[in-house]
Amino acid sequence: MLRIAVVGSGPSGVYTAEALARQDAVPDVAVDVLDRLPCPYGLVRYGVAPDHEKIKSLQGNLRRVLEDPRIRFLGNVTVGGALDPPPTFGRGDPHLAPLALLSLYHAVVYCVGAATDRRLRVPGEDLPGSHSATRFVSWYSAHPDEDPDEFVLRARSAVVIGVGNVAVDVARILARGGEELRRTDVPDAALHALQDSRVTDVHVVGRRGPSQAKFTTKELRELGDLPGAEVVVRSDELALDPAYADPSGLPPAARRNVEVLRGWAERPTSGRARRIHLRFFLRPVELLGDDAVTGVRFERTAPDGQGGVAGTGLLEEIDAQLVLRSVGYRGVPLAGLPFDASAGIVPNDAGRVLRDGQPSPGEYVAGWIKRGPTGVIGTNRPCAKQTAAALVADAPLLLARALPADPLEGLRSLGADPVEWSGWEAIEAAEAELGRSLDRATVKIPDWAGLLTAARPIL
Ligand SMILES: Cc1cc2nc3c(=O)[nH]c(=O)nc-3n(C[C@H](O)[C@H](O)[C@H](O)COP(=O)(O)OP(=O)(O)OC[C@H]3O[C@@H](n4cnc5c(N)ncnc54)[C@H](O)[C@@H]3O)c2cc1C
Ligand SMILES: NC(=O)c1ccc[n+]([C@@H]2O[C@H](COP(=O)([O-])OP(=O)(O)OC[C@H]3O[C@@H](n4cnc5c(N)ncnc54)[C@H](OP(=O)(O)O)[C@@H]3O)[C@@H](O)[C@H]2O)c1
Repeated sequence: MLRIAVVGSGPSGVYTAEALARQDAVPDVAVDVLDRLPCPYGLVRYGVAPDHEKIKSLQGNLRRVLEDPRIRFLGNVTVGGALDPPPTFGRGDPHLAPLALLSLYHAVVYCVGAATDRRLRVPGEDLPGSHSATRFVSWYSAHPDEDPDEFVLRARSAVVIGVGNVAVDVARILARGGEELRRTDVPDAALHALQDSRVTDVHVVGRRGPSQAKFTTKELRELGDLPGAEVVVRSDELALDPAYADPSGLPPAARRNVEVLRGWAERPTSGRARRIHLRFFLRPVELLGDDAVTGVRFERTAPDGQGGVAGTGLLEEIDAQLVLRSVGYRGVPLAGLPFDASAGIVPNDAGRVLRDGQPSPGEYVAGWIKRGPTGVIGTNRPCAKQTAAALVADAPLLLARALPADPLEGLRSLGADPVEWSGWEAIEAAEAELGRSLDRATVKIPDWAGLLTAARPIL
């Protein structure tokens, strides 16, 4: 039997397990899907916005894979460790070294995603009130590394730096406020903070033009459909983009974005309680404030004719008591695995991990840690299939190594205390019960102690 450990139960981990179970070149396979969290699904549980119920429901598809008898979920197992920055809240488990793990399995596939944020590298970035969007997302998603009480939304004006889909998510959640999120699984402390939020203005700011924004049109349009908020766009700012006057030469996605923005710029304001200002050609140069952030200083940019922008020297400040930096995610090195710090990925050749430029037998990667932090959930499926194909092609070599009978015993002897599928089901039941007690649907448990207690109830 070919025994494989997949580290990470996000989309890339689950799709890798699925591809390995479904192939028929090696009929007898057993796949353990390990995760440092006691809960599966990675960013589908801890990233996809709570008000995107349809995308959230993809958890049902991932669940069916993890229920395959050839696949076993083992949560609460951290491989490699070295989270950067270290989580504030305790994790009970020791870290398993990659080599120790490889002694229990014929192959290990790392699907650990990109856990941290890219830095802006401007003065004032770490002032109180300035946070990465990564942390804000983790907070409203109930990630147990995040303090459930981290965000008290006293700010009236918020700046979101970056114009990708994550920026759109966090702006939408701020603009929706709490009441509309009551029907979602948002944790209770976050729901109350959002219900009590004083934020009236959210400024989403891109350093390049509207035709170069990274958000997708569906997500952009949704900002215009929020019942309590309106989108404000300046046509003079849009017009700085050479493609604004005639977007016909743009790729379809960028053209649609420009057309949506044009529609908003041309319509009268509606006077709703909250406003989302979409701004362009402003690059952050400094976060202002002494004890806490009070605003962001930007430099006006202009197109350089090659897809980039150049500074004009003109400065503009936007007042803000909350700044969310949404400039992309970044892979984290795992102790004991090679890491390409400039790309933020594990160096690999079509999924085979490269050590000193050579494929390392039995070690593979898939998903964001293989290609970098871009792409939607579905992008990870072909990526995982490519990795699984490489592994299956290597199987004759991998199978030559004799292994102990059941890796679960080996994991335990190395100090791991895995949460098995029944433990995850117990967490789901506890979250449903928590929801009932709060007169809501399922409500997520936001802390390690709560999750681990739910996973292993004392009977
Ligand atoms: C905020 C946000 C919202 C998004 N919303 C959408 C959306 O609406 N629709 C869409 O299609 N795409 C969305 N995406 C993109 C999508 O989530 C990603 O493409 C996808 O999750 C990447 O999959 P992955 O498996 O590589 O990483 P992840 O989903 O991050 O999974 C990695 C897993 O590895 C585990 N792990 C990490 N380190 C270790 C370790 N050392 N030991 C053990 N386990 C470890 C983590 O706990 C996690 O479960 C969103 C992304 C973000 C950031
Ligand atoms: N609903 C969905 O489908 C959904 C939701 C969330 C996320 N996702 C996916 O998840 C992936 C990650 O999304 P993301 O939004 O984190 O990343 P992203 O799409 O790469 O967007 C990052 C944004 O940050 C800007 N930026 C980078 N460095 C900057 C700097 N130093 N100063 C100012 N701006 C800077 C980028 O501008 P430049 O372009 O100028 O570099 C870009 O606007 C994407 O593939 C996204 O589509 C999908």
